[in-house]
Amino acid sequence: MIIVVCTRTTRFDVNDLPSLCLSRLPSRCIDTQVVFSLRDPALVFSFCLLSISLHCCVCWCSSFLSFPFYLHKMIVTITGAAGQVAYSLLAMIAAGELYGPETHVVLRLLDLEMALQVLEGVREELQDSVYPLLDGVEITSDARAAFAGADMVLMCGAFPRRQGMERQDLLQVNKAIFMEQGAVLGEVAAPGCRVVVVGNPANTNALVLLHAAKGRIDPRHVTALTRLDHNRAAGLLAARAGVHVRAVRNCIVWGNHNTTQVPDVTNATIDGRAAREAIADEAFLDTTFPQQVRLRGQDIIRLRGKSAALSTGKAIIDHARDWLAGTPEGVMVSMAVYSAGNPYGIPEDLIFSFPCTCKDGEWTIVPGLDVSTIQEGLRATADERGGGEEAGGEPLARAREARRYQVARLRRDKQLRAIIT
Ligand SMILES: NC(=O)c1ccc[n+]([C@@H]2O[C@H](COP(=O)([O-])OP(=O)(O)OC[C@H]3O[C@@H](n4cnc5c(N)ncnc54)[C@H](O)[C@@H]3O)[C@@H](O)[C@H]2O)c1
Repeated sequence: MIIVVCTRTTRFDVNDLPSLCLSRLPSRCIDTQVVFSLRDPALVFSFCLLSISLHCCVCWCSSFLSFPFYLHKMIVTITGAAGQVAYSLLAMIAAGELYGPETHVVLRLLDLEMALQVLEGVREELQDSVYPLLDGVEITSDARAAFAGADMVLMCGAFPRRQGMERQDLLQVNKAIFMEQGAVLGEVAAPGCRVVVVGNPANTNALVLLHAAKGRIDPRHVTALTRLDHNRAAGLLAARAGVHVRAVRNCIVWGNHNTTQVPDVTNATIDGRAAREAIADEAFLDTTFPQQVRLRGQDIIRLRGKSAALSTGKAIIDHARDWLAGTPEGVMVSMAVYSAGNPYGIPEDLIFSFPCTCKDGEWTIVPGLDVSTIQEGLRATADERGGGEEAGGEPLARAREARRYQVARLRRDKQLRAIIT
């Protein structure tokens, strides 16, 4: 707290004050502008003393009661928090990259019971990292405790596809997870809670979650991550054009986060020029580039031996921060959002990636873009609904059964790992 005292004994012109000192401070720093004309020095010092005591009192009360009326504090829940994507994400949130440098955060880490020991290790690492904005780390395997009152839920917890596992099996297992967690989230989430679904198949899982919440979560508050594909597309275009990635704008990825997605350069610009003009290579833009974007994840697995985690964490932050803080003027981003009322004729009741802008914590699908060259691709990716439409009627008992199957598989894998090592 800074108290500014202007001493001027003859004439005190209040209009001087803003130009002298207040204008040097960001306006959000000034809670109350108190302007006094005090001629008596004793009165000035009494005023200062009173202000300091009041400030100390408020600080003491807020720390003693752990009550966030003085410091702004957000609760961020991460599911699958013992996984590799979460590991790359936590440091960024703790450092303030999601809510900015003036907002304190509490991290709630949810994973399966058998992963709690890993979470203990993560908590210790976060403690050792001494993040000034990190007010607490809570770990749990109970979804209800994890979601209660959360402001943002980042859902990375999902069952990975194993060798020999059919796509349909993966869908069923993950559908069970998102049905169960969606139902709980619907019951206990804070009214303005924002949800980002990352676990694959992300679009389907997000829709399953929304249906399972039975109308208790605003569909506008549930999104799925296609920002990784969006960022990959920008990076690949920049590399081809030989420019820095910040020169690339508005390359959009439509549809599902999988190989049916539609990377679209129609409205993309590179250094302010149309991408088709800057990269005058139709064969690359229409065939090679979309394939590169779609297969980038597999490329990374081939090279790294593991799926992308670093870039996924960054993409989650980009997605969530733009959603909350707004997109820059003239910039659209790819976000998988609820399709109801969309201006492109995509069927209703899907979570589908569209070009979006964000303002005041809400997204808007950018209308009026030319989609004539990608119509066929849009139809194909929209047709591949992945079973999400069945979500509403599925009994939770089946979800629990699938979860038991999942836990049994994880235990078996753990035992196998123990035997091998
Ligand atoms: N949308 C995207 O762009 C994108 C990008 C990368 C990864 N992904 C997906 O994100 C997910 C996480 O990836 P990862 O590499 O961290 O996987 P991972 O296997 O390292 O971690 C997954 C974690 O989820 C946990 N988990 C499983 N079931 C759970 C449940 N019911 N509740 C809570 N936690 C549960 C597991 O115990 C594990 O710790 C995967 O589904 C992956 O396919 C999506």
